[in-house]
Amino acid sequence: MQGYRASLLWFAPPDGGAPRALFEEDGLLVVGPDAQGRQVVQAIGAFGAVAAQYPQVPVQHFPGRIIAPGFVDMHIHYPQIDVIGSPASGLLPWLENYTFPEENRFSEPTHSAQAATFFIAELLRNGVTTALTFATSHTESVNALLAEAQARHMRMITGLVLMDRHAPTYLLNQGQGSLSGTEQSLRDTESLIQRWHGVDRLGYAITPRFAPTSTDAQLGGAGELAARYPDVWIQSHVAENKDEIAWARDLFPGSRSYLATYDDFGLMRQRAIYAHCIHFDDDDRALMRDTGAAAAVSPTSNLFLGSGFFDYEGADRVGYRYGLASDVGGGTSFSPFHTMLATYYVGREGQTKPGLSLSPQHLWWQHTAGAAAALGLAGENGAPSVGNLLPGCEADFIVLNPQATPLLARKTARANSLDELLFSLIVLGDDRAVEQTVISQAL
Ligand code: GUN
Ligand code: ZN
Repeated sequence: MQGYRASLLWFAPPDGGAPRALFEEDGLLVVGPDAQGRQVVQAIGAFGAVAAQYPQVPVQHFPGRIIAPGFVDMHIHYPQIDVIGSPASGLLPWLENYTFPEENRFSEPTHSAQAATFFIAELLRNGVTTALTFATSHTESVNALLAEAQARHMRMITGLVLMDRHAPTYLLNQGQGSLSGTEQSLRDTESLIQRWHGVDRLGYAITPRFAPTSTDAQLGGAGELAARYPDVWIQSHVAENKDEIAWARDLFPGSRSYLATYDDFGLMRQRAIYAHCIHFDDDDRALMRDTGAAAAVSPTSNLFLGSGFFDYEGADRVGYRYGLASDVGGGTSFSPFHTMLATYYVGREGQTKPGLSLSPQHLWWQHTAGAAAALGLAGENGAPSVGNLLPGCEADFIVLNPQATPLLARKTARANSLDELLFSLIVLGDDRAVEQTVISQAL
């Protein structure tokens, strides 16, 4: 067992009300193995009280630092690290001119491995300890990322991108022998599930890129796999951009809406994560709620590509789950601080009902405990629990330095409340504030 003494930030267990952050100025976090040998939180609270319960445990002291849960990124593309900051008039030209050609490089295992190493280092440098990640339509890209994540003991979920039409030929799933590209992509998906899902801290996500680049046969096959492997994730994109929506409506005229297309193919359920979810009506929101699917809200991407704004009032009124995501490389930053700040702007200016002011606790929760709950990683039915530091949570945490820059030091020194402290970090923080990222290691 190991103790860590610092200021501590974590979240109260959900009670149906607004998410509530907890803070201990002089706290002690005790980490030790659970029955399966995983390093989990054993105790958290005021230093005096917890130290009295664990007198033998060695303690590492971080004076002036804040220990907080590792961030959870609900949607990011590892093959798009070199696409960040590529301007386009909107999503579809951006995909065609920058993203698709870049993703072609990932048919090369060496390139995939190099990119995976950089990507995971960058996540950890920014304090992100769990990520649901897009790879490409090449199995090599999936194997490279999961192998690297396994070596770093990181909780990583990814999957083979399914696309069998309406994209450059070089990026479509390729057939082998007598199997078509569609059939092969579904076989590869199942083999990859069997090879990786549940191994160490790795998870698999069935990954149709978005409905327009899959045939009915591919979406239907993906839905069958989703039914056969109920604890595997599903990830895709939906309702991001007006041109994309018109295209999807054209291709699937029998579905009630773009989102409903996924439901019609059996692709909406718990652990189904849809990026963006911007242009929804209330029936779409109810479908998210009733199926248990969740939205990955990606404000830096939505602002950069001019896609629109996630509707917080609509999501909360109807009551479906969501959390934050960088969506690199449509998104502009790996830093959860940048994403939380962009979320705040979207809350202020991008809402149909104006004047929303998302609280700093709510912003932080959306990128930690809230995102973990939306992913089905909050300990339900024996699932692991991440994104928080309650006893039993996997011990992924970050050590933040509130004095990392002169301005941050000046501002945080004047904070009179937890909200003021968190807001200072959200507005002024970035990777410089993340002094250390600690990953839970199995013993
Ligand atoms: N829709 C389909 N593919 C993509 C992608 O790579 N990025 C974003 N932002 N939207 C998409
Ligand atoms: Zn995306």
